[in-house]
Amino acid sequence: MALRRFALLVAASLVVLVVACGQTSPVPGTPRDFEETATLPRQMAKEEPVVYVYSSRHYGQVEAAFAEFTKETGIEVRFSFGKDAELRERLKAEGEFTPADVLFTVDAGNLWLAAEEGLLQPVESDVLAENIPEQWRDPENRWFTFSLRVRTIAYHPDRVVPSELSTYEALADPKWEGRLCLRPSTKTYTQALVANLIHYYGYEKAREIVAGWARNAAEFIDSDARILKTIAAGGCDVGIVNHYYLARLVREDPHFPVKLFWANQEGEGLDGRGVHANVSGAGVTRHARHVNNAVRLLEWLASEKGMKRFADGNYEFPVNPNLKPHEIVAPWGAFKIDPIPVYLYGQLQAEAIRLMDEAGYK
Ligand SMILES: [Fe+2]
Repeated sequence: MALRRFALLVAASLVVLVVACGQTSPVPGTPRDFEETATLPRQMAKEEPVVYVYSSRHYGQVEAAFAEFTKETGIEVRFSFGKDAELRERLKAEGEFTPADVLFTVDAGNLWLAAEEGLLQPVESDVLAENIPEQWRDPENRWFTFSLRVRTIAYHPDRVVPSELSTYEALADPKWEGRLCLRPSTKTYTQALVANLIHYYGYEKAREIVAGWARNAAEFIDSDARILKTIAAGGCDVGIVNHYYLARLVREDPHFPVKLFWANQEGEGLDGRGVHANVSGAGVTRHARHVNNAVRLLEWLASEKGMKRFADGNYEFPVNPNLKPHEIVAPWGAFKIDPIPVYLYGQLQAEAIRLMDEAGYK
């Protein structure tokens, strides 16, 4: 089977080379054959009905969306899970022999890094271009995102009234001293938020804001769910979390006593630039063997039905603004999102890490 597939790949490469150059090709069997095959026109590739996914997502029932894809297309989705850095290392080590067709992850920083390291290939697809707003995809089409996670301010309504809240920046005010629960600097969620500040304010001013947060911190907690539980238990009054963690707690207990405030909604200039959103997304791997199936999976996730299923699985917001969010989060109200292109979170990640170190942010 493997031999037969190899022979097919070589034959297909030769056809392309002959058509493209009008002359014979390099020696069959060299790694170059795989390279050529990877860029074959899609209709020429012969594929088994399967797509292999490396995923760092750990959101359980999200993946139920993929069963629906299989039912509709007959293409089976096989997962291998791991941490982001680990999966990138695996892709690098496996090179052209990787079984992975798709890399699935969260956070624009992770998608950007994978693309920078040459692990993803560009995909030209009208479906993806039409359904995914530009802000939420790689300018070179190496990755696309399907749903949004809003990182915003959480508070206890007995100890904070919403009128006291406004922007992320305002949480640096001494008024919040000893009242703030924060996620450590090692988390990409924190790094993206700080990258956002660097983009808008420049390094020095961003560092002042972050130093203010660090001074006000009651505690650094490496779990958004635990930040929310600590606010509920009185350990702090305010925190910064991804919205879906609250959705999960509310699903368990509709009276869970913490609320979300959509940050940076009002005012002129940066105060009203919109709430900070990050992404869940994917790209086709550089050496994918099932490129057709991989693209079909991404296109399905960009479709109204696929995107809704996928987003609902983790209470995330579909990137297609015509789609309604899950019924648990819909009542939390509409909000304006910061229009920044999210690939910048990748570009500014290293600077954000350095800045937090200098600002005394743990
Ligand atoms: Fe998360």
